[in-house]
Amino acid sequence: MTGRFIAVEGADGTGKSTQARLLAERMGALFTREPGGTPLGERIRDLVLDPSGEPPVDRAEALLMAAARAQHVAEVVEPALSAGRDVVSDRYVASSVAYQGHGRGLGAEAVMAVNRFATNGLQPDLVVLITVDARVAVRRLGEDLDRIERAGDAFQIAVVAAYSEMAAQDPDRWLVVDGNGTVAEVAARVAAAVEGRL
Ligand code: TYD
Repeated sequence: MTGRFIAVEGADGTGKSTQARLLAERMGALFTREPGGTPLGERIRDLVLDPSGEPPVDRAEALLMAAARAQHVAEVVEPALSAGRDVVSDRYVASSVAYQGHGRGLGAEAVMAVNRFATNGLQPDLVVLITVDARVAVRRLGEDLDRIERAGDAFQIAVVAAYSEMAAQDPDRWLVVDGNGTVAEVAARVAAAVEGRL
């Protein structure tokens, strides 16, 4: 029996990383993250998010995210699922569609094509989208911003809109959870929603 693959998605400052970790603990699932999740992927993450280095052009950014993802799927996600282990990933392909496809304007189709190649077509069984009010997101982000978090308001607005659109277009796979409130309140909402679905 293969494990279940859950991706947790959301714009910057939604608290999705905390919620992804708590969901994994609750399910006894393997917790992992993107970009990253493998030693090579974490090095790519440093390269692509470092605000002080040479900024990748948009297409390079999309390909670096996809390269980290290819390594992550082949070395971590697929083996765990094949061994029957559930996997919770903090971000997956939808992040690239939202950030590179819509935020950077590369187009959803082009980004999806690159990612189909990178992942060999592996799709999550469930995508949990955490949403918060814009003001809450800004407060949670603080001041120590990575290169992509510095991309500006119009970019972040495009990302939020892209996520809503993806969730609306594929309601069987996507679950939208209100991320406003305390960590415990949101965790309880995520748990109830996921249990109702899996
Ligand atoms: P994030 O999960 O927000 O890390 P942290 O919680 O430590 O800040 O991810 C880092 C950034 O990478 C975030 O701004 C979104 C961006 N990103 C993409 O642009 N495309 C992708 O495919 C992925 C996985 C992340």
